[in-house]
Amino acid sequence: MANQLTIALAKGRILDETLPLLARAGIEPADDLSSSRKLVFATSEPDIKLVLIRSADVPTYVQYGAADIGVAGKDVLAEHGGDGLYESVDLGIAPCRMMTAGFEGKALPRFGLRVATKYPRLTRKFFLEQGRQVELIKLYGSMELAPIVGLADVIVDLVDTGNTLRANGLAPLQHIMDISSRLIVNRASLKTKNEAVKRLVERIEQAVEGDD
Ligand code: PRP
Repeated sequence: MANQLTIALAKGRILDETLPLLARAGIEPADDLSSSRKLVFATSEPDIKLVLIRSADVPTYVQYGAADIGVAGKDVLAEHGGDGLYESVDLGIAPCRMMTAGFEGKALPRFGLRVATKYPRLTRKFFLEQGRQVELIKLYGSMELAPIVGLADVIVDLVDTGNTLRANGLAPLQHIMDISSRLIVNRASLKTKNEAVKRLVERIEQAVEGDD
């Protein structure tokens, strides 16, 4: 149906902060998302359903129109590249920084710097812009371990309080970008379901503004 809308969300901190926002926009899931094993959820709005996926997959679902709208961190958006997506409201959720990190004061090799990250695309871009070619090591989590065991010279990861770095004897080094969660919209849905998409985005925008 032309007015049916699917919103893609990911479990974790983003979800915990997005649900109250959606509730203020009048959209409440029919089940408890955090305890259910289901992946598709009806909402209080008959025309709106939610799908629950891995955070790194949200841009892909929205890119291909499997979801019309999604909530994704700027980190996964930058890594995805943004094809087929319109980046809408900054929800101000889960703010943190993308940083390089390593041992403070340790001399780093000018050539052949080894960088461990789960963000290879944006990491390569960041170092290329500095005129540096680096050896990328793709990891899926716990990046802080890599410098400790000598797998990498530095890491590229999200830093919020800095506690995880400190707990592992590491320090933030270079700031790459500020991160927060964004509302993203499938570009085709913007045309084919224009009215419904616009109305929903406006409701969420109002909920964000009401949050200030
Ligand atoms: C994130 C990030 C850091 C940590 C930073 O990990 O990858 O490890 O939080 O937060 P802090 O500066 O407040 O310590 P997350 O817990 O999301 O798990 P992940 O390793 O799966 O990314």
